[in-house]
Amino acid sequence: MYIRSFADSNGDGIGDLIGIHDRLDYLADLGIDFVWVTPFYPSPMADWGYDVADYCDVDPRFGTLDDFDTLINGAHRRGLRILVDLVPNHSSDAHPWFRDALTGPDSDHRDYYIWAAPGPDGGPPNNWIGYFGGPAWTLDEASGQYYMHLFLPEQPDLNWRNPAVVEEFDRILRFWLDRGVGGFRIDVAGALVKDDLLRSNPQIGPWDPTADRYEQWLAFDHLHDVFQPESHDVFRRWRAICDEYDAYLLGETYHQDPQGLADLVPGDGMHGGFWFAPMHIDWEVDKLRRVLAGPIDLVGERLLWAAGSHDVPRSPTRFGGGDLGRERTLVLNVLFSCLPGVPVLYQGEELGLVDGRVPEEAVLDPVDNGRDGCRTPMPWAPGSGNGFTSGEAWLRSEQRADNETAHAQVGEPDSWHSRYAGLLVALGTLPDLVYEPLVWTDGGYGPVIAYRRGPVGVAANTASDEHHVEIPAGASVAYATPGVRVDGERRLALAAHNAAIWVDLS
Ligand code: NOJ
Ligand code: CA
Repeated sequence: MYIRSFADSNGDGIGDLIGIHDRLDYLADLGIDFVWVTPFYPSPMADWGYDVADYCDVDPRFGTLDDFDTLINGAHRRGLRILVDLVPNHSSDAHPWFRDALTGPDSDHRDYYIWAAPGPDGGPPNNWIGYFGGPAWTLDEASGQYYMHLFLPEQPDLNWRNPAVVEEFDRILRFWLDRGVGGFRIDVAGALVKDDLLRSNPQIGPWDPTADRYEQWLAFDHLHDVFQPESHDVFRRWRAICDEYDAYLLGETYHQDPQGLADLVPGDGMHGGFWFAPMHIDWEVDKLRRVLAGPIDLVGERLLWAAGSHDVPRSPTRFGGGDLGRERTLVLNVLFSCLPGVPVLYQGEELGLVDGRVPEEAVLDPVDNGRDGCRTPMPWAPGSGNGFTSGEAWLRSEQRADNETAHAQVGEPDSWHSRYAGLLVALGTLPDLVYEPLVWTDGGYGPVIAYRRGPVGVAANTASDEHHVEIPAGASVAYATPGVRVDGERRLALAAHNAAIWVDLS
């Protein structure tokens, strides 16, 4: 859930904790088990809250700590768990630690951050670049030293080699665990610890400072800035703390390669890691097979499957837009749903939302070819403000069509919302699959992707024409998207971009 855009309770145009609280029935009725809420901590909002100025409080724009307690209690009453976003890689430059660090090399908190003298040419200390483009170093003129930041200059990286930082975060975890959170989503997990010698990364591709930020990133082999094995010591420590509370750690494990993901979630640290490859492919059956099958043997039940997030264009937009993109996204979610691991929806995916339209002059995201489109307000109801706010939304976007709203879709048998809610209901009726091995039953080719786990079969037609799938005699269909027909006793006909789940208990 992207809190700024979920629900505004007080008309200031910004989603807030009480807004979430007031929509808990909607979330519980959808059939989800937990909610990950993006950062609501005090922040100058240079990166919309991923620049934290106080890890143990609530920004007044989002509410108060009392509101947070109200939210947690309401969630627990409905059997929902709330996971908060922990942002340990960097703080805001407005955090008191960094303010103090800036007072000079001898300050108490200088070593909470990563500082280095200029390189031999007087420029940055090494060749590291930021995820958002540009050098990963900013000069502090007062001391003549550079500080490191993987993101904006307003987001200085914390020094995880400093035991004092480690201890601060132990306290931060316990602060929220004691308030009843069900765990944490770890922002930029895996990049916490940096090379102790701050060595430059080998350059492996052409360097073009005008290229888009992702291409810039790929010009280097990131041996020294991210994914240092010492980060695991931190995760193991957090795991021990979370185990006391039966709480979960979900990593933002940004890796396109299954082995890279597996290395980040070996099992004794974070409980799960998001697998990002499905957010970076076109709709092509071989690519789909590859991203579905790729990490399973290596990561298994620790996988977190998601088609979208607040950082990429919405899945229906990426997969062709309109109803085509919506059908494909639902099909992908059906495929995710019975694989080892946990399927995760991004707010509004259950309404089939495509990206919101943000006029060029209203763009707010600090990142190039920004992330505003997937962050526009939830359309709760038809009309101006779409029921998100009674005021002016923080991010201006075109009003959504009436049939895109929750009001129009909830309880309507043929709506996207009903299809997603129906999927979640069906999942709840299936036998426990955790110990059932996964068998791909599609032979590895053709337009239908299919697998079996114990008594449960799943098939999805990824093509734009109809295809059939054999099911065991006596199997019963547990879930089907609208274009699925029973075609004889042992066969389902799947119209273009349709999927089904069946159970064979015979
Ligand atoms: C990942 C978050 O999801 C993204 O929104 C943020 O900009 C970066 N981490 C930096 O914290
Ligand atoms: Ca508000």
